[in-house]
Amino acid sequence: MKNLISMRDLSKKEILYFMEIAEKIEKGELNLNMDKKLAALLFFEPSTRTHFSFATAMKKIGGQTITMRGTSSSSVKKGETFADTLQTIAQYAEIIIMRSPIEGAARYASEVVDIPVVNAGDGANQHPTQALLDLYSIIKTQGTLENLTIGVAGDLRFGRTVHSLVQALSEFTPRFKFISPSFLKMPTYILDDLLEKNIKFEELAEIDEKIDELDILYVTRIQKERFADPEDYEKVKGSYILEKSMLSNVKENFKVMHPLPRVDEISTDVDDTEFAYYFPQAKNGVYMRQAIISILLGGVK
Ligand code: NCD
Repeated sequence: MKNLISMRDLSKKEILYFMEIAEKIEKGELNLNMDKKLAALLFFEPSTRTHFSFATAMKKIGGQTITMRGTSSSSVKKGETFADTLQTIAQYAEIIIMRSPIEGAARYASEVVDIPVVNAGDGANQHPTQALLDLYSIIKTQGTLENLTIGVAGDLRFGRTVHSLVQALSEFTPRFKFISPSFLKMPTYILDDLLEKNIKFEELAEIDEKIDELDILYVTRIQKERFADPEDYEKVKGSYILEKSMLSNVKENFKVMHPLPRVDEISTDVDDTEFAYYFPQAKNGVYMRQAIISILLGGVK
């Protein structure tokens, strides 16, 4: 495997390999040494966790990072093409980790340069490294990825994390409950895939409707920046909020996940319940990203 662009490119076996290596890294069983390796972090959209956890991961395995945030201080401003910028960066770094508002940007980059490219989010399309850390968090809390009932709530239309997550989980016979306002429903191309694979799903409108059946509830933020018309955002804003009072009948193993950032979709009174897992989930991102970088750079023997 050279690049990590879309969950669709990964087999079940490859997904499980990422899980195995992340677990070994967390347990301190692997001695990784990315000495002298340099990762270029190109972030053309805001990021806290993805950027910091990749930078942290690279440092923890002995590598280093250089960062470009936006294009305003780069030669793109002078009219340089994106392809030339990428080819230049590939002269300096051993791996490119890239976030862009444009769908397909990471795939394009992987076709332009010879070094590995990791998609750290491309528009509303994919966020495969988030999906891998989400699966790792699910295994850690449920002991398995197989046969789980997963509620996916929020902006299922523009949320790239849920697109990647649903595709990734599809390999493990899940039952999905998709919970969203009708304007923010899961795209048909993903639902069609699930139908083809005979995966059970239902679409619900209220976040607590079948909460007692769930092993995981994965909540997401409404992706305000992807709305073409601000009025559409005003109509759905605040339309679902998970509150502590909704958690009285949940399963013992139930966990609430969220890729973060949170706006108002999980009330802060959920944070100190045993069900909140979103901050440990963010920590798992470092182990998974150490695994991703090491595997792509051939550092795992
Ligand atoms: C997500 C993203 O950027 O898609 N954040 C993240 O990487 N953890 C989710 C979001 O912005 O809502």
